[in-house]
Amino acid sequence: MSPQPSPLDSLTQPQSIPAQPSALPQVWQSFLHGQSQALVQAGLWRTIETLDSAPGPTVTIDGRELILLCSNNYLGLATDPRLVSAAQAAAARYGVGSGASRLLSGSTPLHGQLEQRLAQLKGSEDCLLFGSGYLANVGTIAALVQPGDTVLSDRLNHASIIDGCRLSGAQVVVFPHGDLAAAEQALSQARGKVLIVTDSVFSMDGDVAPLAELVTLADRYGALLMVDEAHATGVIGHGLVPSLGLSGRVPIVMGTCSKALGSLGGFVAASRLLCDYLRQRARTFFFDTALPPPVLAATLAALDVIAKEPERGIRAQALATRLYHGLVQLGLSALPPRAAIVPLMCGPAELALSLASALRRDGILALAVRPPTVPPGTARLRLCTMATHTDAHIAYILDCFARHKDLLRRPPTPSAQPQ
Ligand SMILES: Cc1ncc(COP(=O)(O)O)c(C=O)c1O
Repeated sequence: MSPQPSPLDSLTQPQSIPAQPSALPQVWQSFLHGQSQALVQAGLWRTIETLDSAPGPTVTIDGRELILLCSNNYLGLATDPRLVSAAQAAAARYGVGSGASRLLSGSTPLHGQLEQRLAQLKGSEDCLLFGSGYLANVGTIAALVQPGDTVLSDRLNHASIIDGCRLSGAQVVVFPHGDLAAAEQALSQARGKVLIVTDSVFSMDGDVAPLAELVTLADRYGALLMVDEAHATGVIGHGLVPSLGLSGRVPIVMGTCSKALGSLGGFVAASRLLCDYLRQRARTFFFDTALPPPVLAATLAALDVIAKEPERGIRAQALATRLYHGLVQLGLSALPPRAAIVPLMCGPAELALSLASALRRDGILALAVRPPTVPPGTARLRLCTMATHTDAHIAYILDCFARHKDLLRRPPTPSAQPQ
């Protein structure tokens, strides 16, 4: 005898709902349509690639192998078997999700271990993990300064710093890129508590901040200095701050586990007092689900790898320098790398797009970076080398640029990023 159907069956059986265009109010329909059209016409419409493979030095898209030249997986650790097996073991032991914010449902031991290891890496007393580097910047800045305070921000800082500054309600003074005189002028007029915030390696221009001078300025004016080491950690040793001998002189070092460390998660390395304060007041920490255990275990394994194999960072940098010199010899307008980022300036978005398409036909994935990520007129290919690229990859890439260099006729110089 078959069981009687229950009235709950229709709720518990998965229903397949046919896709329908969502009914949007007319005003929204027109707004979204108009904005999308404008982006397409300006050559700024972005599409998302689907990779059929892991993000190694080469990737497979639509069955075709391409050299990956635009990834922040600088050391090649995202696919390293040691990280993968650490993540698998952690998933088996602790599961794949954290379930809630750490303040709500607790941490695994991995959270504390990783915070301790990152504090050691950065030579700080304490460290606090966030769900991503973006969340670390937004939450930290917004928790530290409020209306009545002042935050000084380099014009080329990452969007997450810009958004944290805006969210804080503090007065934001954007100083021209690396301009110490302008920063000092702003410091002399600043009100309330003062925070200075800068990338160490700038993500789109690949250059570095004048950190030693900023430390001196911050000391002179009693300002708090926060340095974002997202693109330096693991590439320039443990970061630009320690490599310049400035550990202990930069009160807040922010970083991310999503680039050289190959996994995911942001962190702030600072004093116990400051980290404890952030545990109480950083909204992106306590209103956000904790990082999942496999990701934490992968990052812990990454820290072991970079301790044992510092040559990975050195190789990623050396390949960037080789690529830069090769591009300059071809007469192209590349910017000198300080880590593993080589921006190739193209100017108008269409030029960057046509160069990216030509490279793609040759089997190289190097996506065009266009406004609003960079200022209008400074579209570029942001080329990133990985420790796992071979010498033959770099030689082939330079051959391809030699064939396509005539596509770029009007290389501009970089200018200020809108904040
Ligand atoms: C300088 C800088 N800071 C912070 C972030 C954000 O890090 P995440 O990708 O981990 O959110 C990025 C990401 O590109 C970055 O370039």
